[in-house]
Amino acid sequence: MKNIHIITGGSSGIGLECAKQFDEGTVIVTGRNEQRLINAVTELKANGIDAIYKQGDISSSESVRELFEFAKSLGEIKTVVNSAGVSGVGVDAKLTFEIDLLGTENLAINAKDYISKGGVLILLASMIGHVVPPNEAYDKYLEYPSTPGAIDSLVQIAQNKSDFAYNFSKRGVHLMVKRFAPEYGKEGLRILSISPGIIMTPMSKKAAEEHPEQMEYMKSMTPAGRNGEPEDISEVVKFLASDKASFITGTDILVDGGLAIRLPEIVAAYQNQ
Ligand SMILES: NC(=O)c1ccc[n+]([C@@H]2O[C@H](COP(=O)([O-])OP(=O)(O)OC[C@H]3O[C@@H](n4cnc5c(N)ncnc54)[C@H](OP(=O)(O)O)[C@@H]3O)[C@@H](O)[C@H]2O)c1
Repeated sequence: MKNIHIITGGSSGIGLECAKQFDEGTVIVTGRNEQRLINAVTELKANGIDAIYKQGDISSSESVRELFEFAKSLGEIKTVVNSAGVSGVGVDAKLTFEIDLLGTENLAINAKDYISKGGVLILLASMIGHVVPPNEAYDKYLEYPSTPGAIDSLVQIAQNKSDFAYNFSKRGVHLMVKRFAPEYGKEGLRILSISPGIIMTPMSKKAAEEHPEQMEYMKSMTPAGRNGEPEDISEVVKFLASDKASFITGTDILVDGGLAIRLPEIVAAYQNQ
């Protein structure tokens, strides 16, 4: 049976670059927009990747189950990378929670029943998730977002602001990795997250158009002296998906050029404005 690697959000940015790392087996890229998926598969094939697409929406558990059934019919699922997400720009707070938080839970719940022993689920979180302080009032919803009423409560807590919803959702990804790691371990599986800093993709370029001065400021604060490129993340994904990383689970890996250590200063600077 051939190995299958699923990359949600594989039609753009970090996901598309991650897909290029899997040069054995078959890569399934997913997303909502079919034309973008067709373009991605063309680009991947030109890079020598055996790629196909499956259209779907991670915020729908039915769509996620269909994706896994489809993948299972093709071979043994070894890797799932969840790079599907929205930044909150141009999207309301509720939808941001539904995609970035509930979508992540949908994948984590379902993937466990489909990934083959030794396989891994890698979730794209964000450095910004480390800025949201622990608080029981919302952590219970962030960790269990499908609890009835959780998303509505979170929308209120985030004051209906989509950028807050994004930050909260990414803390939720960190919490879910810890929640799921023991049960994944029992099945011989791993689950972990990667928290990128600012990576130059269509998502961050859109944010830069909205807040150019903020993006320049963040870059100037980054110890590495530059923004990241999708390859900075995909190389780490390649390692984390390999057997060489078989002792890494239940944790978050920051890949941010060192920006997270400056975040308290950055938050204070914005609060004093
Ligand atoms: N770029 C950064 O600076 C940065 C920093 C930290 C974290 N991240 C995280 O990294 C991940 C990838 O970001 P990116 O910058 O590569 O973004 P991107 O270029 O905008 O790509 C996002 C991908 O997700 C797909 N997607 C969005 N909503 C979806 C849904 N409901 N179901 C399935 N697919 C969906 C999009 O395709 P469709 O729109 O066609 O569905 C697209 O393929 C995100 O989780 C993001 O939060 C990015």
